[in-house]
Amino acid sequence: MPHRIGIVAGDGIGPEVVGEGLRALGAAGVVIERVDLDLGAERYLRTGDVLPDDAVKAIRDCDAVLLGAVGDPRVPPGVLERGLLLRLRFDLDLYVNLRPVKLIEGIDTPLAGKGPADIDMLVVRENTEGLYTGAGGAHLVGTAGEVATQESINTRRGAERVIRYAFEQAGRRRRKVTMVHKTNVLTYAGALWTRAFEAVAADHPDIETDYVHVDAACLYFVTQPERFDVVVTENLFGDILTDLGAAIAGGMGVAASGNIDPERRGPSIFEPVHGSAPDIANQGRANPLACILSVALMLDHLGEAEAAGRIEAAVASAVRDGGVKGRSTRELGDAVVRLIAG
Ligand code: IPM
Ligand code: MN
Repeated sequence: MPHRIGIVAGDGIGPEVVGEGLRALGAAGVVIERVDLDLGAERYLRTGDVLPDDAVKAIRDCDAVLLGAVGDPRVPPGVLERGLLLRLRFDLDLYVNLRPVKLIEGIDTPLAGKGPADIDMLVVRENTEGLYTGAGGAHLVGTAGEVATQESINTRRGAERVIRYAFEQAGRRRRKVTMVHKTNVLTYAGALWTRAFEAVAADHPDIETDYVHVDAACLYFVTQPERFDVVVTENLFGDILTDLGAAIAGGMGVAASGNIDPERRGPSIFEPVHGSAPDIANQGRANPLACILSVALMLDHLGEAEAAGRIEAAVASAVRDGGVKGRSTRELGDAVVRLIAG
């Protein structure tokens, strides 16, 4: 049975990178039934629709979704973020945001004296709670007395399930999980996370555990990235930390992600971490590797580990052979396709 894949090519460089992602997928011999979903800024500006019910239904009928990028300066901030990206994460309960931070040989890191052996971690970001839920409110808006609250929602169940996923991943890697939080200041949420972490750790005596405050984690990402294997953290800390992670691993051009429901109750969504980059859209200059690596994460999730491995290996060879600088979207895509084929 072919996998039924929803495609949100989206805006800006989205269609270009998705095009290369799909070519890599085809080259790896994976057959899909493609469901094109017209969503994003262009659709919103044309019709006012952000995520209509029929699109939600079409997505729910898919095995997975590949999303290029959505966003445009003409759309007010928050419309697509809350109405599309976050809504899908919440409604589909995609509680893991999986973000590998892996330096590929041939790509430059800004960290002096560090190489691929030092920068190889998996950040597991909680994806359905924390400050992202939109809880809070505003009072006397627009006046000198304006008040805004933005509350962080943390549930024991929510923390425990994402921590459990992190420990399972560590079992397939170097067997270490670092929890990142700010337990010295966020004493309620921090204590909940700590209790959940300790409970899951007790079930995994073979996995080494560590705890680092988020501010210190930023320091260590730069000075000692080798100390991290799997990192598990709450939603906003994970958002911020994974941009730093992308920076040390060579930039947004290679940062892949998956919004995953590990229980497979519905489709998971795979997307490059980068945005729509309207400034370089339609010039064939966007780096497609983040999208191609997101396709590999998607295939791994769909049980196509062999095809996923071949795509990852092809990306690694393409980069080792010629780096990424000065290579067009198509050139990089062609190199990957050629290397997958053999
Ligand atoms: C990301 C993005 C999103 C987030 C935005 C666009 C809602 O920054 O995927 O990291 O904050 O999660
Ligand atoms: Mn982000």
